[in-house]
Amino acid sequence: MQYALMNGEITALPSDCLVLGVYQHGDLDECTQRIDDALQGKLSALIEKGDFAAKCGQTVMLYDITGIAAQRVLLVGAGKKDKLDVRQYQKMWAAVFTALKDSGVETALCCLHQLSVRDRNTYWKVRFAVEQLARSSYVFDRFKKEKANAPALRKVQFWCELTEPTLETAIVEAQAIAYGVKATKDIANLPANIANPAYLAECARELAQECDVVIATVIDEAEMAKLGMNAYLAVSRGSHNPAFMSLIDYNNTGNPDAQPIVLVGKGLTFDAGGISLKPSADMDEMKYDMGGAAAVYGVMKALTKLQLPVRVIGVLAGCENMPDGNAYRPGDILTTMKGLSVEVLNTDAEGRLVLCDALTYVERLNPEVVIDIATLTGACVVALGQHNSGLLSPNESLATALLDAAAQAGDKAWRLPLGEEYSEQLKSNFADLANIGGRWGGASTAGAFLSHFTENYTWAHLDIAGTAWKSGAEKGATGRPVALLVQYLLDQVNKKGTKYNLSALYSR
Ligand code: BES
Ligand code: MN
Ligand code: ZN
Repeated sequence: MQYALMNGEITALPSDCLVLGVYQHGDLDECTQRIDDALQGKLSALIEKGDFAAKCGQTVMLYDITGIAAQRVLLVGAGKKDKLDVRQYQKMWAAVFTALKDSGVETALCCLHQLSVRDRNTYWKVRFAVEQLARSSYVFDRFKKEKANAPALRKVQFWCELTEPTLETAIVEAQAIAYGVKATKDIANLPANIANPAYLAECARELAQECDVVIATVIDEAEMAKLGMNAYLAVSRGSHNPAFMSLIDYNNTGNPDAQPIVLVGKGLTFDAGGISLKPSADMDEMKYDMGGAAAVYGVMKALTKLQLPVRVIGVLAGCENMPDGNAYRPGDILTTMKGLSVEVLNTDAEGRLVLCDALTYVERLNPEVVIDIATLTGACVVALGQHNSGLLSPNESLATALLDAAAQAGDKAWRLPLGEEYSEQLKSNFADLANIGGRWGGASTAGAFLSHFTENYTWAHLDIAGTAWKSGAEKGATGRPVALLVQYLLDQVNKKGTKYNLSALYSR
């Protein structure tokens, strides 16, 4: 899809369809009023007669349009003016896509971003529009004989009084995020018989081939053994698919020694639970237990599009957790790379075992900050549902920066506590730590477990167990929290004041 800004007299701009937003029980906005005048009151008559209530996301397509250069007009309900927030706004764009998808419309000229959305400026309104259109148009039909028909829609234009560089930036950033989100969804939706740890490693290597400033390093089990990553290896032992930890080093700073931001993604390409086997209902969804690694991969892809002047190292901690004659068992005591011993009380609490060694490994990268992203606990889903990712960090300023990025990007996160109380739940009679902390506060005890391995740098943990994918009829990866993380990186670059010009990437 092509996205572009457009200015000029709106009634005279040609397009297959003009897309206009209308508030419920409200006045027409300036843009829509102008069209209504040119159409001799056709729109206001329709509303007055009660044929279009303008409920949020409601649409009506008008044909036989004369008096303006557009062929059709699509009216989109915005709901009540004072209720219009980001969520409602995204709902409107989802409705636009549905309305246009099965029509012959190839080019749409849109004005929805002219509506006032609570706390959002035009930059955000354009950015969310592009992100939402990309999200709506996602299909995963690689394994179906009958492929979805590609929609005719190929060009979306945003009508603006002035085509400012910040709006060009909005389009560039949104497209990069959408590209990353798609990469994350594609890899996460793959089944475990295809996307195994070796596959993740291949993706890392391919990215390095595609992009000059990316170097990939893949650490195999033999090397992990040398490094003493025994917790990571213990999880992998029950699987015939060997573990690989893949590093994607994106350094566009020109300084080979720049301190990196390190993103560590839990990459359990399948989590059967191991000897503490999971129940079979919905077990297929545990192919998504590599959602953290998939998100890290998507962020790295987005970075290559944005060419941001940063150094970010993405770590895909690939592994598979299976029951087997060689699998690790409840009661086993493991010595982690850090030297702390861990008593395994449940082999299904495997994510923290893989992560604790990956998090120890990344110390040697001299990180500025480390953020791990993991589908870590069912308890996080119980606490926050599927709406917010859980954020845990002992560092106030990093936590604030990530919560800000989450709010800005519309990719929500909510902070959950860490602390000694939770660490005490991890006491073991036989080792330094147990790998589970009892029934209560599971997201926090998991975070507390990780906190024992992250004392030497600034760290945050994102539990995406509830947000990485959707279940049921809409089953599929969401691409979260790519938008949150890319936003965080954009914010870091802006904070440092490094010069870069994204609007130069905008193609006219
Ligand atoms: N990958 C799961 C967490 C998970 C469960 C994510 C359901 C999304 C939906 C993780 O490895 C796990 O099994 N965690 C256990 C921990 C428990 C044994 C302490 C859990 O949450 O039940
Ligand atoms: Mn598990
Ligand atoms: Zn898991």
